[in-house]
Formats: sequence, structure tokens, C-alpha cells
Amino acid sequence: LASIRFDVSTVPEGSSVTILWRGLPVFVRHRTPEEIEAARAVPLSELRDPEGDEERVLEGHEEWLIMVANCTHLGCVPVGESGDFGGWFCPCHGSQFDTAGRIRRGPAPTNLVVPPYEFVSDTIVEIG
Ligand code: FES
Repeated sequence: LASIRFDVSTVPEGSSVTILWRGLPVFVRHRTPEEIEAARAVPLSELRDPEGDEERVLEGHEEWLIMVANCTHLGCVPVGESGDFGGWFCPCHGSQFDTAGRIRRGPAPTNLVVPPYEFVSDTIVEIG
């Protein structure tokens, strides 16, 4: 299957799930307003792979952060809601990602990858 549909209404605010897309694990995180605010407050000059939060989410659906769940260093699956930046911590070599999934510390060269997706209704997202 090239694309999948997922009902995000099953994911409470402040939590996330991991689903499979083309054999890849994908995080679907329901961000809190505080997490969105924290991501948007970071100056791009502090980022190794400068991308604004608004470039990584869809307008009108800013609470949903959807990313391939493989660390951009060597592919391990980072652990959510951990690390010093409120996002993810990769247990393999210590990369840390913020609440927009951007690399903030450690060896990963780039941000976690946002796959192509769109909302086909208020609660159904189609990935791929
Ligand atoms: Fe994540 Fe190396 S695979 S830090």
C-alpha cells in the first residue's frame, strides 16, 4: 500500500502512537499547546538543520506532528517524551530532538523526516 489512513482522534493530547507506513514506523504525536509554543520559540539560528515549526506541520493542524520514527543518524527508533528538549531521545548514540522533531544535540545530522501527508477530514490523516 502506498498510502495509509489513520484516525487521529484515538490519540489524546500529550501522547503519541507509532504506526507503520511502507514498513517504516511513523510517530503520530498530539502536541500540547505548550509543546507547540516551545517549538516556535526556538530561533532558527540555534538549529543544526534550520526548519521552522510551521514548515513541519500543516496549518490548521499544528497539534499533529507526524514523522518517520527512525533517527537520522543510523536509524534507531528514538524514545518519545524524553531528553532535554521535550521531544525524543535516541538511545543508540544520544541524539536529542525537540517538540518539532528537530535535531538539537548528538550525532544525527538532520531533523526527523516528515513524510507526505494530508488531512482528508477533521480526524483522518492520509500518509503517503
Ligand atoms: Fe540515533 Fe545514532 S542512531 S543517535
